[in-house]
Amino acid sequence: MPVIDNALYDHVAGTWWEKDGFMALLRVSVNPARVLYAQEVLKKTGRDPKKLQILDVGCGGGLMSKPLAQMGGIVTGVDLSLPTLEAARAHAKGQNLSIDYRVGDAQSLPFQDASVDVAVCCDVLEHVTDMPRVMSEVSRVLRPGGLFVFDTINRTWQSKLVAIKAAQDWPPTRFIPRDMHVWDMFVRPEELSRALLKSHLLPREMTGLSPAASPFVSAFTILRRKAGLISYQRMGELLPLKKSLDMSVSYMGYAEKSHFAACAAPQQGVSASTAALNLSPEALLAEALLGESP
Ligand SMILES: C[S@@+](CC[C@H](N)C(=O)[O-])C[C@H]1O[C@@H](n2cnc3c(N)ncnc32)[C@H](O)[C@@H]1O
Repeated sequence: MPVIDNALYDHVAGTWWEKDGFMALLRVSVNPARVLYAQEVLKKTGRDPKKLQILDVGCGGGLMSKPLAQMGGIVTGVDLSLPTLEAARAHAKGQNLSIDYRVGDAQSLPFQDASVDVAVCCDVLEHVTDMPRVMSEVSRVLRPGGLFVFDTINRTWQSKLVAIKAAQDWPPTRFIPRDMHVWDMFVRPEELSRALLKSHLLPREMTGLSPAASPFVSAFTILRRKAGLISYQRMGELLPLKKSLDMSVSYMGYAEKSHFAACAAPQQGVSASTAALNLSPEALLAEALLGESP
């Protein structure tokens, strides 16, 4: 199996906020739809981000951290890449935003149990070796009833064609590094649902994240970028993603940590997350299906 190169984020760190840099693609094409979605979810779940403790897991240059902080959240971003975090810090400083960026592994989050109201994890789950472990860590640090918002890439023939073959492999079309993604590490929605439920995170919604442009416009835009006729920024502007019903390539969604975790009173010397593991499957199922909490 090919090996993913997560170290490449160290090398492109300078481009997270560069107008026409490589990361302009993620910033301009993908991010606006995710920010809109996070806002929609916060609103429909009755959350005012002001003063909420928000954790951006695998925050990169802070594309999600920034708008969440602008909405009034108290935001901490965690990422493995130090140069990326330096770019994120410099950008936040330039914007007069107070965001706490820390080095850390999504598979072993440097946070206490039940210390966070909202966790977001965008385009990271397909980069980690142990996705269920990340879910377990997110659940551990979330307060009971806490919100988890995510997006990732599905493992389908469509994602192989679009995200691997066209974007990475085929010389006439490829526009991202060849080892940026590994198809086998993509996450099917049912795998994610299983991992969420196992960690007492109740999946509430999953929905597609797809190009607004037609396949023809998309292909033509990629070829123009390949020929050097347009910048990454322009390519992103021409190929915005939008919320859709098509989950075959990318999808996003949200889950909420079971309230029942609050009922399983932690005994002395037992953390809340450990106590939560003792919940009855029936109670969890009722909450998942009915959205009911005690
Ligand atoms: C595609 S970028 C997404 C960045 C950001 N979430 C966004 O959407 O703008 C993937 C990020 O995940 C980070 N990453 C990969 N594995 C990680 C891990 N185990 N723990 C924390 N961060 C990780 C990378 O350094 C990179 O910044």
